[in-house]
Amino acid sequence: MVYKNKTSCVHAGELKDLEYNGAVSPLYMSTSYAFDKVKSNLYPRYFNTPNQTALGKKISILEKGEKALIFSSGMAAISSSLFSNLESGSHVIFQNDLYGGTSNFIKKQFPKYGIEFSFSKGLGVSDFEKEIKQNTVGIYIETPSNPLFKIINLKEVSKLAKDRECWTIVDNTFASPVNQNPISFGIDMVVHSATKYLGGHSDISAGVVVSNNFFIEKIYDHAKNFGGNISEYSSWLLERSIKTLFLRVEAQNRNAMNLAKFLQKNKYVSSVHYPGLESHPDYLIAKNQMHGGFGGMLSFEMNQSINTSKFLESLKLIKPSTSLGGVESTLVIPKFTSHALLSKKERLNQGISDNLIRLSVGIEDPGDLKLDLQNSINTASNES
Ligand SMILES: Cc1ncc(COP(=O)(O)O)c(C=O)c1O
Repeated sequence: MVYKNKTSCVHAGELKDLEYNGAVSPLYMSTSYAFDKVKSNLYPRYFNTPNQTALGKKISILEKGEKALIFSSGMAAISSSLFSNLESGSHVIFQNDLYGGTSNFIKKQFPKYGIEFSFSKGLGVSDFEKEIKQNTVGIYIETPSNPLFKIINLKEVSKLAKDRECWTIVDNTFASPVNQNPISFGIDMVVHSATKYLGGHSDISAGVVVSNNFFIEKIYDHAKNFGGNISEYSSWLLERSIKTLFLRVEAQNRNAMNLAKFLQKNKYVSSVHYPGLESHPDYLIAKNQMHGGFGGMLSFEMNQSINTSKFLESLKLIKPSTSLGGVESTLVIPKFTSHALLSKKERLNQGISDNLIRLSVGIEDPGDLKLDLQNSINTASNES
């Protein structure tokens, strides 16, 4: 029976409690299992214990893949997916404004193994095509991008890659499976920092890769040697969290749209970056490939009359936090965090001004969130 996504969030993959008939999946903490009465050797680092398997089934159904492997962090999932599909001499293309951790990983690790990489100059399909070389084997993207929420056309990139016999990986962390299923557009592998929306409560570190059996087998072959599997308790907790994924993300979509429209009208705000706004340059692509909503992430620029440090200090409800995707609203100022190592000129070249604020919108009452933003903007303005 194929259920709708909301039902799958609650029930897909769940383990039956055959002993007590409890309502939720039992937690199996064992790291040691009998070898003579089972089809395969169960062991945490083999990614096949009961809670890992239950969670993998749920996530692969939500992401429309055949199978999922669950890791201890997003970076463990990302590094395993990349390393298992690359070898010395191969070349892979990344988009230019990549999540800092992934960018740092490839710049630090790939040269040691003789793996070549390049960054696209823009996010259009032709920008990726221009980077293709004879030894290119894959294309890795994130959409919506961070922190300006630009959109990459999944269908076009997947077609380009297939025509050139390359694989594709999409980091779907920001959209979550509620809003976007890259595999439905022909993308080969989807990765997540499940530390964000899938976990949703800022208390679980986890990562996910979803794909078809061919790629999962390749990644598994690598991962069982490198480790990086999720713990049993985190698996169980993440399965519990995903039961409310749809409810949470739908509320976050609504709140983000509401705040984006509100900020657009604010005289101290010079621009708002949210793919759900019709004024967003990639709105039509987003509308076409994001089905549930446009996500809970947005960024905005305040004009020069606003003192960003004062704005930050004045917030009462929205917390400054480097992470995202939780039920609580948080924000970062890229100048102080993800892009602090760049010079002002380098930041401006990437379109990141000193007054850019990235907001991860939670599930609170939108009126309270607006009030918090408005009060802090007023306090931080030169006119106050
Ligand atoms: C888009 C994206 N991908 C991957 C990661 C890495 O995930 P983790 O911190 O769980 O390793 C992050 C973390 O912030 C992220 O924002």
